[in-house]
Formats: sequence, structure tokens, C-alpha cells
Amino acid sequence: MTDVATTDYRDDYRDAGLQFPADFVFGSATASYQIEGAVNEGGRGPSIWDTFSHTPGKVHNGDTGDQADDHYHRLDADLDLMKSLNLQAYRFSISWPRIQPTGRGPANPEGIAFYTRLIDGLIERGITPIVTLYHWDLPQALEDEGGWANRATSYAFADYARIVGQAFGDRIGTWTTLNEPWCSAYLGYASGVHAPGLNDYAASLAAVHHLNLAHGLAVTALKEVVTNDPQFSITLNLHVLRPEGETGAEAVRRIDGLGNRVFLGPLLDGEYPADVIADTSEVTDWSFVHDGDLDLIKQPLDLLGVNYYSTNLVRVWDGVSPKQSADGHGEASVSPWPAASDIEFLEQPGPHTEMGWNIDPSGLEELLVSVSTAYPNLPLMITENGAAFDDQVVDGRVPDADRTDYLRRHITAAHKALSRGVDLRGYQVWSLMDNFEWAYGYSKRFGIVRVDYDTLERTPKDSALWYSELAATNRIPD
Ligand code: NOJ
Repeated sequence: MTDVATTDYRDDYRDAGLQFPADFVFGSATASYQIEGAVNEGGRGPSIWDTFSHTPGKVHNGDTGDQADDHYHRLDADLDLMKSLNLQAYRFSISWPRIQPTGRGPANPEGIAFYTRLIDGLIERGITPIVTLYHWDLPQALEDEGGWANRATSYAFADYARIVGQAFGDRIGTWTTLNEPWCSAYLGYASGVHAPGLNDYAASLAAVHHLNLAHGLAVTALKEVVTNDPQFSITLNLHVLRPEGETGAEAVRRIDGLGNRVFLGPLLDGEYPADVIADTSEVTDWSFVHDGDLDLIKQPLDLLGVNYYSTNLVRVWDGVSPKQSADGHGEASVSPWPAASDIEFLEQPGPHTEMGWNIDPSGLEELLVSVSTAYPNLPLMITENGAAFDDQVVDGRVPDADRTDYLRRHITAAHKALSRGVDLRGYQVWSLMDNFEWAYGYSKRFGIVRVDYDTLERTPKDSALWYSELAATNRIPD
């Protein structure tokens, strides 16, 4: 065990009374397929998650996003809920198949109308909209042509971005292109636990590149149509890695390459890491990277979104002992990591959330400090952080002390990073409300607001009340 992994942090990161700067933004986050429902309404076309969730055996309990939180029909009440929780910002995603039902062609007016109501409703309530263009609901028609393994999808994404930019450009400050492209590429095309559910390592690496390219092309398109000084961002789930034993350093290098540097490299440095290309040479020759692509991908970034939940303890499998794969990405029979399925993700000590993810706020501080050291001029935003717990309803209340404790520790970690000089602009809790947790369906509750899936009634949990005090004062409550 490394020193870090055995650190007893139980008394750390529990400060009350810490004050954040006045312009630090506390908000909450969601994603379209996870909350909207109304999948056959408003002219929306099918997405890969409709297809996947309706395929038997893919999602826990056969759950789908057909109804989800019914946010599509409860928009005004949900906006009022956000206001009542003092949220300063709301991070949401636009459903591509609501805007372009088949992923191509003209804008669907009903889709534009829905997000117009959402964006205007936020602004009227003094809540800053933070838009993500792609949070995994690819139009099925594009998947039928190869999805993210097909270069044409990147160009289609740029056309979609242009439509959205034309519609909302006057009201959106920060544009986030993609959410966690790691998941889209590797969980979608390698381990197959996410839509479209394929097991093809070569396709997953092509998807990595086409997602990076899509980001670059979308920023270029948005710049053409949005003239009021737009800010550009992308959200990554960077892996915080801790080495175990003699092979730990090698395992860290390889997972850091495939998990982190394969995105950071092209986005910020204009190149793919040579060691990743070498490590994966038996899977692909990388000929999907065309001349000029790296220049297109490396657009100036105004903000990097960071999603953080837990750490990873890794080593190279010895080939003899039973292989451990506690990587927190579902019960995959196929590893999500191309050319690295021999890397073990070890069980870690300490408390865990309902997802089985270890709770370690020091990982968040470490991540923020390391990214800002590597890229000193890049402002950061925590675009997701939160925890699933098995909440209980007691006399109409949800006393989720474990979630409040998780949030307090991680927000304290964010404050520590700020005081160490990190240019950190805000924190968005995942999630505003319980929702469709992808392959886990509705079995994992991340919300600070409880959703009763029978009545769809919303009940702020105790953590929401705590968070609303934080959001009102920018001070960590007692
Ligand atoms: C990351 C994803 O962006 C979000 O959709 C998901 O629900 C949370 N993490 C929790 O797993």
C-alpha cells in the first residue's frame, strides 16, 4: 500500500466556517437523458441510450429514461426548486436528438423552444446557465453510421453546435462541448457497459480521437456564430491514480496515458502522447488522425471542467492471482482499457459510497493542484462531485448525513486547493435530483433532492438544505 492510500483522512477535510470568494459559483448539475423523460415528445428522435436501455440485460432492472424525472413536463417547478435552494448556477446538457432528431438537418423548433424556456427561466431567477452540448445521448441515426468511431460524427457535432450557438449564443457565457469523453469512448465502445454497448478496442480509440476532434470543430463553429465573447470548456473525468507495489508506477503511467493524457495532450499541448501510441500499437495504427486534426483540436480553452468522485489504486496483474477490477465502472466482463486489460484496479480501504467508490477528498485536492501546476493559466471548475447513498425517508425528511459529510469534505478539499493557488471558479454538485444512473438505472441516488419515482414528487434532502446555506453565503456551514 502506498502512504497516500492508507492515510486516515477521517478527521481531515471537515472544516466548517471556511469562506469562499464572492465570485466562486456554487450550483448543481444534471444531464438530459438522466432527468428529462418525454423521449417521444416534442419531436425528439431516438438516442443511443433509448436503444441501449430498451435492450434486455443492459440496464439494471430494465430501467429506461422514458420517464426519468419527467423534468420535461415539470420544468417550471424544477426551476423554482433550484431558486429555493439558492443555486447560483445550473449545469445541464442539451439533448442533441431534441435539436436534430436524426443528428443532421435543420433545427427542431420544439427542441429549441424547450431549452429556450429552460435558459430564460434560469436567467429570470438569477441562476447562471452552464451548458453542456453532449452528455452521451447521441442520435441513434448517427450511431447507425458508426457513431463516434466514424469521423463524420465529429462534423455532424459541429453543425449541431452551430445551431445551438445561433439559438442561445446571446444568453450563454460558457459552452462546454463534451462531458467525460472517456466514458463515451471506452465504456461505450470497449467495455460496452454504456451505449452503444460495443466491445471493440480499435473503435474505442477512434472514438477518443473523434470526440477530441468534435470538441475542436464545435469550438470553431461556435466562434463563427457567437459574437459576445464566448468562453469554451470541456469536462473530463481525470483519473487520480495511486500506485501499488513494484508495478504500480508502470500501471499509473499506462492508465494516466489512456485515461488522462490522451485527452489533455491533444486539447492543451497539440499532440497525442507518444507512449500511448506505442502502448496501443497492436490495437490501432492511429491512422484516423489526419493532417491538421491536432491544430483543430487545440483550441484555446477558457475553463476546464473536472468531475471527481474517488481515486484508483493500480498495479499490473501478475497473471496468476485472481484479477481484481474494482474500477467502479460496472460489472464489465471486458476491460474498458485498450491494451491495458492487464491493469488491476484494487479494492481500497476506508468508507465507500453506494457505488462502491472509496471516499477520499485528498484526491480532489491533489487533482486540482496537479492540473493547475501542469497548466497554470487554465481556470478550473468542479463540474461534478457527489455521492450515491441508500437514502431513507423518515417522517417526510431525508436525513442523508453521509452525503452532507461527503460534500463537506470535498468542498473543504476545493477550498484547500484554492488556498494553494489553484484558479478554481466553482463547484457543481452532482446531482440536483436523483436520476437515471446509466447502467445502474434508478438504483443509485445521487440527488440532493429526492425523487419518488412513483409520484415524481421532489423532496429536498438534508444535504440540500445544508448546500442551500452554503450557496447563499459561500461559507461552509457548521
Ligand atoms: C459522471 C457522469 O457525467 C454523470 O452522468 C453520472 O451520473 C455521474 N458521473 C455519477 O456516476
